[in-house]
Amino acid sequence: MSIKTNLVFEKMQKNEVDTIKNIEEEQNISILSKESIKNELNSTTSFYYVCKYQNKIIGYINFSIIVDTMEINSVVVKKDFKKKGIATYMLDNVITIAKSKNVKQIFLEVRKSNIPAQNLYEKFNFIHINTRNNYYSNNLEDAYIYSLKLYPKCK
Ligand SMILES: CC(C)(COP(=O)(O)OP(=O)(O)OC[C@H]1O[C@@H](n2cnc3c(N)ncnc32)[C@H](O)[C@@H]1OP(=O)(O)O)[C@@H](O)C(=O)NCCC(=O)NCCS
Repeated sequence: MSIKTNLVFEKMQKNEVDTIKNIEEEQNISILSKESIKNELNSTTSFYYVCKYQNKIIGYINFSIIVDTMEINSVVVKKDFKKKGIATYMLDNVITIAKSKNVKQIFLEVRKSNIPAQNLYEKFNFIHINTRNNYYSNNLEDAYIYSLKLYPKCK
């Protein structure tokens, strides 16, 4: 049976933060500290969801919603589960949530060098609308700003 028919998408619990930090660390990624994530779990505007396969977390996604605008802050998939449609599954779910909350536009930023993520977003019809030069403080890499309009729909 395909992995995609056995995935679960649900809100992250506080006791799952260590697991998502391990998933980041195995790829030398660190987006927010454990404490910051735990604080954000109490927020009414920031949301963390995990993707589970056979009861184990294999990825997570974080987004915020302010009025009718969503910002996707991070999408991370466990190393061994990449290229199996897990990020696609999570984005599909997040876009469904966005529509249910009457979000009109989704924004995100991605490193210029992050081709896998750019391909992922372009597959969902996100458009590269702007560039923030020298945006990332660790290596002064440019940030590409992507946007997806949900309403009014792009032709
Ligand atoms: C980017 C990332 C989230 C993609 O997750 P994934 O589950 O492997 O993605 P999917 O299997 O759903 O792939 C969807 C599309 O993304 C693109 N893609 C994914 N991995 C890719 C790669 N290594 N090279 C090029 N394109 C890639 C492809 O267009 C793919 O569509 P296809 O399968 O039809 O070719 C994953 O590589 C990751 O966790 N990267 C590290 C964290 C990160 O950079 N997150 C984004 C910024 S926060």
